[in-house]
Amino acid sequence: MTRLNLAILISGRGSNMKALLEAARDPAYPAKPVLVLSNRPDAGGLETATAESVATAVVDHKDFGKDRVAFERAMDARLEAAGIEIIALAGFMRVLTPWFVEKWSGRLINIHPSLLPKYKGLDTHQRAIDAGDAEAGCSVHWVTAGVDEGAVIQQAHVPILPGDTAQTLAARILPEEHSLYPEALARACAEIKARA
Ligand code: GRF
Repeated sequence: MTRLNLAILISGRGSNMKALLEAARDPAYPAKPVLVLSNRPDAGGLETATAESVATAVVDHKDFGKDRVAFERAMDARLEAAGIEIIALAGFMRVLTPWFVEKWSGRLINIHPSLLPKYKGLDTHQRAIDAGDAEAGCSVHWVTAGVDEGAVIQQAHVPILPGDTAQTLAARILPEEHSLYPEALARACAEIKARA
């Protein structure tokens, strides 16, 4: 079985990245993590990746000022050099330009802590509570040029309980993210292979 070369892009603690790395310890998992790339040199997830023996790279967006495409070209060079075939965004906090999104179209997925199409962007948990929703959740989706707008691959639902705060709701959703993402990434790999 051929495994697709996977890059995981992070900006922070990387708990979703860790869930993907753990799933991919199984040699039968359809993606093989070959690179964890962070736009922040201090991202906690970098240490976790190193502990899992996965190569890491930092491309600091601050080095490129306002030139977002130059930042993305530097990332792209690392991705190409590593032979990447699929990219999973996992708490990657930069909005990608159409150039990068089109270049990796059909090979780029993201996890978002809401039941898309509801609550694109930030503060998803508070917005779901404020709207009086009975449930919330998380979505893994293909990335397109519009932020959090691509087709959903898979979702997980949790209830919103009386007295929930953004923190308690986020804490209920996060473990769901960790089981959802490896499953949804496997589905994305199957789709990519079916296309080939
Ligand atoms: C997660 O809630 C993810 O859905 C969102 O950012 C958070 C990242 O957390 N996109 P982590 O870095 O994976 O722990």
